[in-house]
Amino acid sequence: MIRTILQLPDPVLRKVSTPVQKIDAEIKKLIKDMFETMYDAPGVGLAAIQIGVAKRVVTIDATRGDDEKDPMVFINPEIVSVSEEKDSKEEGCLSISEFYEEVERPSEVKVRYMDEKGETKEIDADGLLARALQHEIDHLNGVLFIDHISKLKRDRVTKKFTKAAKVNKRVAAAG
Ligand code: NI
Repeated sequence: MIRTILQLPDPVLRKVSTPVQKIDAEIKKLIKDMFETMYDAPGVGLAAIQIGVAKRVVTIDATRGDDEKDPMVFINPEIVSVSEEKDSKEEGCLSISEFYEEVERPSEVKVRYMDEKGETKEIDADGLLARALQHEIDHLNGVLFIDHISKLKRDRVTKKFTKAAKVNKRVAAAG
């Protein structure tokens, strides 16, 4: 089921998500919904909190264009180590539609996580996958990519989205 993606400044996006204790039917359904929602958007990654579920679950597909799909799921992901080397790339977020800004992040990360079978795994990521993992793990901690840009730019985009949310609310109220 395609779920609604929460938009800035929804306070739910600032919640810290809780670890998954058991991979049950509910979590499996959540993962399925997250992939459907992410591919429909379309986006490179999605954190469960973006559809209003405060559980530490992330879906990512860092392939591009016509490449074969590579759906990846990370349960309770943790950054174990990061490279000293950093790079700066333009980033966006499905919860901050059509806003892009350069963000500097470590270029490589090692992440420990649980897969869908409940097995603990580690991955060494670079490039887009490394960036997506850091972006999505931030979401699990209530952090948005705009927290990594200048205050001036952050205030400006937050104001714009706050205004848009008010207009949408009025439209909804008017029926
Ligand atoms: Ni995001």
